[in-house]
Amino acid sequence: MAPSLLSADFADLKGELDSLQACGADLLHLDIMDGHFVPNLTFGPFICEAIRRLTPLPLDAHLMMTHPHRYLEAFAKAGVDGITIHVEATCDVGAALDQIGALGCQRGLSLRPATDLGEMVPFLDRVDLVLVMSVPPGFGGQSFDEGAPERIAWLKQRRAETGGRWLISVDGGINDVTGAACRQAGADILVSGSWLMKAKDRAARTALLKG
Ligand code: DX5
Ligand code: ZN
Repeated sequence: MAPSLLSADFADLKGELDSLQACGADLLHLDIMDGHFVPNLTFGPFICEAIRRLTPLPLDAHLMMTHPHRYLEAFAKAGVDGITIHVEATCDVGAALDQIGALGCQRGLSLRPATDLGEMVPFLDRVDLVLVMSVPPGFGGQSFDEGAPERIAWLKQRRAETGGRWLISVDGGINDVTGAACRQAGADILVSGSWLMKAKDRAARTALLKG
């Protein structure tokens, strides 16, 4: 279970990180938006480095960026454990994945709900994680794309057929109901933003997501 910090109270970052660790989060999902690949802007390596010093939880940076390759080294230096780029990015995606691995980070690849899964196929032999977007990237609090479980099931089958070892993660509109559907379809990791972060009892919601 991976909370997205997008809905966290950044005025109390330490308190939020402690709360997420206490409620049973397994890793933290950091949404990095560049104001170009998506209309929204969030934060970069500087804040990731501060988060790194505030929590022992593994960090996965989800780069919603047009030019992620320019910043991979900076995110690795900030201490994140995984870096996920988008297959729609304007860069040599294979080379960027190789660079993420060479920097000692887990290699993640994501795609928008509207992008054909076939676009991922050339890269599946060099990723550690596939992140299925179940909302159009850019904002928290959007509603879940009902097509996501089918895409997760397709990836699970593809992984079994090819002997892949990558994890399947899903991001966007995850709650107890949509999370259960994704788990059933084969998701290994559920990313949850607003539904989890706005809850009074985050531990109870974390337990629900873990099933
Ligand atoms: C969307 C982000 C997601 C999002 C999840 O662009 O990648 O991580 O913040 O938030 P919820 O769970 O609110 O959809
Ligand atoms: Zn995300």
